[in-house]
Order: sequence, then structure tokens, then C-alpha cells
Amino acid sequence: MTVRWPLPKQDYWSTPFAEALLQHLDLFSGATILDIASGHGIPAFYLAEQVGQTGRVLGIDLSAAQVARARAIQGEQLPWLRFECLDMRALPPEFTMFDRITGNLSVMFFRPYRFEVVQGLVEHLKPGGQLVLTFPSLGTFDSLWRRVDQEMAVRGLLTERRRLEAYIAERPSAEEGRGWLERIGLERVVIAEYPLEVVISPGREFLYHPLLRGGFLDDVDECFEDPHLADLVMAAVSEDLTSVQPLIAQRCVLSGWKTQPVKI
Ligand SMILES: C[S@@+](CC[C@H](N)C(=O)[O-])C[C@H]1O[C@@H](n2cnc3c(N)ncnc32)[C@H](O)[C@@H]1O
Repeated sequence: MTVRWPLPKQDYWSTPFAEALLQHLDLFSGATILDIASGHGIPAFYLAEQVGQTGRVLGIDLSAAQVARARAIQGEQLPWLRFECLDMRALPPEFTMFDRITGNLSVMFFRPYRFEVVQGLVEHLKPGGQLVLTFPSLGTFDSLWRRVDQEMAVRGLLTERRRLEAYIAERPSAEEGRGWLERIGLERVVIAEYPLEVVISPGREFLYHPLLRGGFLDDVDECFEDPHLADLVMAAVSEDLTSVQPLIAQRCVLSGWKTQPVKI
């Protein structure tokens, strides 16, 4: 079958995470899928094409702009796929049940009650259904955090260093993810991590790197009271990236199956 809705090749962040997700997802024609944190449709469009018109895919995202963007891409195509504006952390109790729940680059937005969010999602999984989530796990960009910390240390920035340390420690690990799935009682739990190198160049290109700026570097800025100081530190880091390279993200996949009741 020719794939008309492949994962976008030019996307160097969402697509590699979605590839890892698909490697663990058991897809079948006619499946009903809830895709959380669906953004502009990675991997919802791909999933919809694969389940076919006898299936159903619902992509949900908190951002109305993302939902509008996904709907604009969709137009009149794949009518069994819908995008809705909904908070994945608080699904309405009357919400339907799905064969599969997927969430590419989703877990980092489960803060602060991550376990409870996973538990809430599993309530909407049919018995025998599969949950597959991805996120950049603890260890992601460690070389960058070490470099930023070094630059802070040189300048004697104790408060900023403590904040950076707290930020790094707060990010969930693959093992924490395993703990959630096992505690909920999912079966055949598989936790996998796949490294991904993010190519960086010094100077402005680093400081305005679309991936790093859209999250990670903004988080570092929040470790500073003084935005001017943040600019100075990050400018120094951006000029000496020797110890940062290679910059590696960990693509973590959490997969588990809801227990099927035993037929008597
Ligand atoms: C990193 S993007 C991933 C989008 C898409 N799955 C992809 O792989 O490109 C994360 C998405 O989660 C959405 N999001 C954040 N918090 C959310 C929440 N509480 N409920 C639903 N979506 C949320 C954001 O609006 C954003 O579109």
C-alpha cells in the first residue's frame, strides 16, 4: 500500500520520536485510537490512514491554534479522523474507550501529577488495549546542562546552579515511566530508549535553534532572575560548544497493555 500520509521527513524532532512510537505500537485496520498532545497531527494522520475508514482516530490538544492547524492540513480528507481541543490531563468521565492510546512527545506535559495523568488515560483504554507514549527522558541533553552549569560555576552563580539542578532532576526518567505503568497494572510493559543526535553549530544558530529555543533554552533562562545575565551566560556557552557535542536526546517509549478479563 502506498502511504499517502507518511511522517514528515524534514521534521528532525517529532518524526524520530514518532518512529520510535510506531516501532512499539500494534496497529490494526479498524482500530479506534486516541492520540493525545496531537499537535498538528504527528502521528495522527499516519495512524488514521493505517486504521482505514472502518477505524476512528481522535487527536486531542490543549492548544486551539494547534487544533486549527491540524484541521487545516486535514481539510476534507480522512473523515474518520477528528481533532478536538481537550486537556489530556482531565478527560471527561463520559469519554469513550479506545483500542489504542498514543501520545508522541506528550509525557513532559503531564506535570505535575504525571502518574495520575497516565492512570486517567488508562481508564479510557479498552481491556486488551495498548498505551504507547514517548518523551525525551532524563539524560536528554546532559552535555548541554553540564556546559551551562560550568559557565554558571565560573561566574559564582549559586542560586542559578541550584535552579538548573532542580530543573534537570524534575524531568522524568525511563525507569520512572516503567514504575507508573507497572503500578497501574499494565501488562507486557516495555520501556525503550533510542538516542537521537541533534546537530548544532556555535553562535546565534545555537541560541536560536528552533528545537532548543522552543523549550529547552527557555527553561534555562528561567533559572535566572536577571535576563541580562542569562543572555551573557548563554552567549558564552554558544561560543564554546566543544564539550556539548554530540548533543544527544533520549527518545523514550513507554508501552503497556490493559488486562483482558478472563472469559469463563
Ligand atoms: C511537543 S508537541 C507534540 C505534538 C505532536 N504529537 C508531535 O509529535 O509533533 C506537544 C503538544 O502537546 C500539547 N499539550 C500540552 N499540554 C497539553 C494538555 N494538557 N492536553 C493536551 N495537549 C497538550 C501542546 O499544545 C503541543 O501541541
